[in-house]
Amino acid sequence: MLSIVQITDLPIEGFEALVRESEDEGFRFLKRLRDEWRSDTNRFSKASEAFFGVMEDRTLLAVGGLNRESDRCGRLRRFYVTKNGRRRGVGRFLAQHILRFAAEHYSSVVLKTDTEVADRFYIALGFTRLPQGGGTTHIIEMKRPNKALEPTPTSVTSPAFAGAAPAAVVAHL
Ligand SMILES: CC(C)(COP(=O)(O)OP(=O)(O)OC[C@H]1O[C@@H](n2cnc3c(N)ncnc32)[C@H](O)[C@@H]1OP(=O)(O)O)[C@@H](O)C(=O)NCCC(=O)NCCS
Repeated sequence: MLSIVQITDLPIEGFEALVRESEDEGFRFLKRLRDEWRSDTNRFSKASEAFFGVMEDRTLLAVGGLNRESDRCGRLRRFYVTKNGRRRGVGRFLAQHILRFAAEHYSSVVLKTDTEVADRFYIALGFTRLPQGGGTTHIIEMKRPNKALEPTPTSVTSPAFAGAAPAAVVAHL
């Protein structure tokens, strides 16, 4: 069973393993996340920001967060699914949760990615590509109906997990 937790402090159990794995794959953005969290440069803690993780039992499978890009626009950042967790709907589950959170605060969400897999993933979620050369590569408007905002089968629970906020969404995938 997968659950989403809001992460309010780092590191949590399993986070360092994600950082190491991401570096082995050539991604540097989780290390940057850790560094910026440590220096308090970015803890996804401003108004209308949040950082989330996906847990399977007590194992951290994925992380991702929403920063404030502007008053009307959020920015999806630091989005990573562990290799063993991929192609099971984990990324979609987390992204949809973040986009539902975003819909309460913004009219659009942007992101920047440079990998083909992530491009396919975000297009599958309903994002569209932006013209090249800007600081962002994809955008989604928070209009309804929007397939990215459709509810997943969920219920609310309160798992005890250090560093994670109590409210969590549980899904059976
Ligand atoms: C991109 C990433 C987040 C996708 O996560 P995931 O949990 O595997 O994605 P899901 O299983 O939810 O896939 C949802 C849809 O995205 C698309 N998709 C995901 N991975 C894909 C791949 N490798 N090739 C083609 N399409 C893919 C598919 O349409 C998929 O639906 P389907 O499985 O029904 O075909 C994950 O591969 C990852 O973390 N990669 C490394 C880090 C990264 O690139 N992060 C993004 C930086 S901005």
